[in-house]
Amino acid sequence: MMSDKEAIKQLTAYFQRENIRNVVILTDENVNRLYPDYFSGLQEFCQLDHYVLPAGESSKSIETAVKIWDYLAEKQYDRNVFLLNFGGGMVCDLGGFVASTYKRGIRFANHPTTLLAMIDAAVGGKTGINLQYLKNGVGTFYFSDIQLPVDSSLLKTLPDEELRSGFGELVKYALIGSEELFQKLCKLKSINDLETDSLEFCINFKRNIVEKDPKDNGLRHILNFGHTIGHAIESYCAEAGTPIAHGLAVAQGLYYESLLSAKRGHLPQNEWQQIAEFLPKHFQILTLTEDVLLKLVVFMQNDKKNTGNLINFTFLDHIGHASPNFQIPISEIQNLLLT
Ligand SMILES: NC(=O)c1ccc[n+]([C@@H]2O[C@H](COP(=O)([O-])OP(=O)(O)OC[C@H]3O[C@@H](n4cnc5c(N)ncnc54)[C@H](O)[C@@H]3O)[C@@H](O)[C@H]2O)c1
Ligand SMILES: [Zn+2]
Repeated sequence: MMSDKEAIKQLTAYFQRENIRNVVILTDENVNRLYPDYFSGLQEFCQLDHYVLPAGESSKSIETAVKIWDYLAEKQYDRNVFLLNFGGGMVCDLGGFVASTYKRGIRFANHPTTLLAMIDAAVGGKTGINLQYLKNGVGTFYFSDIQLPVDSSLLKTLPDEELRSGFGELVKYALIGSEELFQKLCKLKSINDLETDSLEFCINFKRNIVEKDPKDNGLRHILNFGHTIGHAIESYCAEAGTPIAHGLAVAQGLYYESLLSAKRGHLPQNEWQQIAEFLPKHFQILTLTEDVLLKLVVFMQNDKKNTGNLINFTFLDHIGHASPNFQIPISEIQNLLLT
């Protein structure tokens, strides 16, 4: 397991090389309470400030961004200040956005503390804040200046639901990128036994895709596997007053999009069976009645990635290999999922 010392060692060398003297650590109240002295080793080399946000998605807003911009300006920080995002995806997305805009851009890094952020949000250069009715409604593509090794020991304090949510995204990487990882996950007794090399596979896989398609014009859509139906289930549950974590909705999306892949003849039947056996062991899967499906379809139609009656899907060809950008008529989705 990688220790926190490694990230601090790399940061120290980087700050010295780049002559960085002022570092602002952006974090949320939970992470700050659990790990108040995590970066104290850096104090020898630079001046550390902490900016602590209320925990939760509602902090990912323009109001919070303004507060942080004001804070940086009041402290008279110039473009040489370094922002260190220490938290989950909320902190990474918001911090990346602030870094990309303060004085037209300052240097920053993510040191993620949730499984979801380690394998997804902290990687790939997408930053953003939510508008009142539009998640990630405003944002930038802005890449961190140093990629730190993850410290999976931080996951020990993560609530079980959050860990399982990250695990949903991790299963996605296995399905689209590595049959070997999938088999390894099938043998896992508990999510708590996840090994760092499984996380590293996901991080490297995403980095590799993002390098080829940084601005999300085509290939990167492969990372949306499970998300077309997953997002619809996430919205459906939120509307029903029983919201669920993103990765738990994605896991259900993986289930139904694998089923669609098999029904359309992309994915061999025996591989679908393995997926159908594995996912319900870790995740509750919503039953699709005609009524539920109708509601999901409306959410899919409203998704910005889709046009009219055609819904964009990534399909699995095999466990470990996916192909993006199929446009499927709504009627076909309904027929296939109800029969
Ligand atoms: N930029 C991208 O590519 C990308 C990709 C996926 C998700 N995201 C974004 O990520 C966000 C979700 O991220 P998240 O799931 O990490 O949520 P989060 O950052 O809100 O963290 C979830 C909860 O866990 C707590 N927490 C964090 N680390 C902890 C630790 N080590 N121990 C105990 N508690 C801890 C937090 O305080 C919070 O209450 C969303 O805003 C989503 O849009 C971005
Ligand atoms: Zn996701």
